[in-house]
Amino acid sequence: MCGIIGYISQEKGVSKKIIHNLKKLEYRGYDSSGICLLKGNTFLVKKSVGEIAKLEQKLNFVDDFDCGIAHTRWATHGKVSLKNTHPHLSQDKCWAVVHNGIIENFLELSKLIKSKGVTLKSETDTETIVALMALQNGDDNIKKLNEVTSMLVGSYAICLLHKGEHALYVARRHSPLYIAKNDNSCMVSSDPVTFGEDYGTYYTLPDDCMAKVTVDKIDVYDKNLNKICVKPSEVGSFEKSAELGKYSFYAEKEISEIPKVIDTILSNYKIVDHFKKINKTFYSQIKKVKLIGCGTAYHACLMGAKYIQNYAHIEAQGYIASEFRYSKPLIDKNTLCIFVSQSGETADTLLSLELAKNMGAKTVAVVNVPYSSIAQKADVVLPLCAGMEVAVMSTKAYNAMLLVLMLLASHLSKFTESPQQFDYDVLKSVDFFKDVQKIDPITDLVLKSEKVFFIGRGEDYVTALEAGLKLKEITYINCVSIPSGELKHGTLSLVDNKSLVFMIATDKNLLAKNISSASEIKARGGKIVLVTNLDEIQSGDIDYVYQFDKITQKFSSIISIIPFQVLAYKTCLRLGYSPDKPRNLAKSVTVE
Ligand code: M6R
Repeated sequence: MCGIIGYISQEKGVSKKIIHNLKKLEYRGYDSSGICLLKGNTFLVKKSVGEIAKLEQKLNFVDDFDCGIAHTRWATHGKVSLKNTHPHLSQDKCWAVVHNGIIENFLELSKLIKSKGVTLKSETDTETIVALMALQNGDDNIKKLNEVTSMLVGSYAICLLHKGEHALYVARRHSPLYIAKNDNSCMVSSDPVTFGEDYGTYYTLPDDCMAKVTVDKIDVYDKNLNKICVKPSEVGSFEKSAELGKYSFYAEKEISEIPKVIDTILSNYKIVDHFKKINKTFYSQIKKVKLIGCGTAYHACLMGAKYIQNYAHIEAQGYIASEFRYSKPLIDKNTLCIFVSQSGETADTLLSLELAKNMGAKTVAVVNVPYSSIAQKADVVLPLCAGMEVAVMSTKAYNAMLLVLMLLASHLSKFTESPQQFDYDVLKSVDFFKDVQKIDPITDLVLKSEKVFFIGRGEDYVTALEAGLKLKEITYINCVSIPSGELKHGTLSLVDNKSLVFMIATDKNLLAKNISSASEIKARGGKIVLVTNLDEIQSGDIDYVYQFDKITQKFSSIISIIPFQVLAYKTCLRLGYSPDKPRNLAKSVTVE
């Protein structure tokens, strides 16, 4: 979603550096961008709707500015327009701001601001921040910032410029913000991926804190205006791993990295004991497990719940984070809550984690971004080791989530009477992309159909859900995923000779039931593509069989999604859409 860059330097000509780094945030999704540069008392603001490249074209002036803030906006309050694009200036032109997050009480604040005779020019919640800053009295800008942030309800990461000062003012609540410093510059960013080239370390601004950043120093304050000390973190290999290399798109690169990611997880979990805190005593205190996430991560939660229930014999259930928060969940110290997230910043998942912690649950984070808020707040962190994922369509992170959740389930099973220890090394010999070229004719079938369905039973139903999400999010094809057994309870009425049904079948024991679902579809004129690793398929009702590498039933859930990831990617290219940046979506959903 939105991205923030603030930059202050001893040298002039900062716009190039700012734009270069703003581009590194493009992957998060945005629909407009803007920059505000400051030199002494002069602000220069440029904005553009669409690609950052359009903003860049507007920077054709002699750049002798030594300080600036910039933003990529993903519209929430107010439509996509120049007027609503950040940075926003206060009416007196003394303050400029960029903001990530949502100010929930902005209507109330707008009324207050207007009652003081100030006009707001945009439809955004953000503009209220600079308007309030300008209304504060006194000379101490940190005190003013504290006063203003105490009036804000909701989430924010903000970076401000003040006329006449060579400084950046920053504050955050529930939305990440980081600061890095070297000998002649400081950079503020909503994502440390921007620090790799110029900085060795960076600071995470703690929640509900603020800072004044100059070229020489970073002063951090808590909400009681006490100066606080923050420990620096190293800029690691994760932040540097976003190169596209030989690939045309990140989606293609990230799907191709799945075997490497699986390998890395297996090696990493052998070397590092991530389960150290999850010992026998921990296990004996768990009465139930709740797995919480959104989108693809939610699908991983559904699968993880099956693994945990089957292998560790503890009642486990997957929840959509935005539903979980408002469902009055029954949680106590005997509940293990597992939060699954690639970005580690998804607002609903993060707020669910806070809710669970406040209710006394044990918390585990299964996350990819090691420095993320979810990773920092959970009791135990199980890293996904997937490297940076840039494409909005989550692929390698999903396979990684399943494997890590399976490792967790088999670890928990050690404390039961029937430990389930698997030969994970089998995964190293799998041909993950076996017969992947056979997906081209299936792409034709998708493009010829009017309706697409994904069906399966048990774990295969979860794969059906994830396969449907992959296809719809980057091809904009409307599709339905349902358990095979549910077909005749309603959805079968949609099936006709313009329908294509993907049936996923990896469990021998459920094969006969799947075959009878196939007959029901065939009888209504639907075409069926069976995606399986089984050999025993003998049915005249199947139109096309895609067979992936024969792997033991235990691991098939980790592999069976790959053909669908490839199918979505190939179909998207055939339709001429962008596989990395689907419309209306953002990589990291940092607002509720
Ligand atoms: O970063 P997270 O895993 O918490 O993100 C949750 C969802 O927004 C995400 O999985 C989304 O559904 C995928 N980008 C879809 O491919």
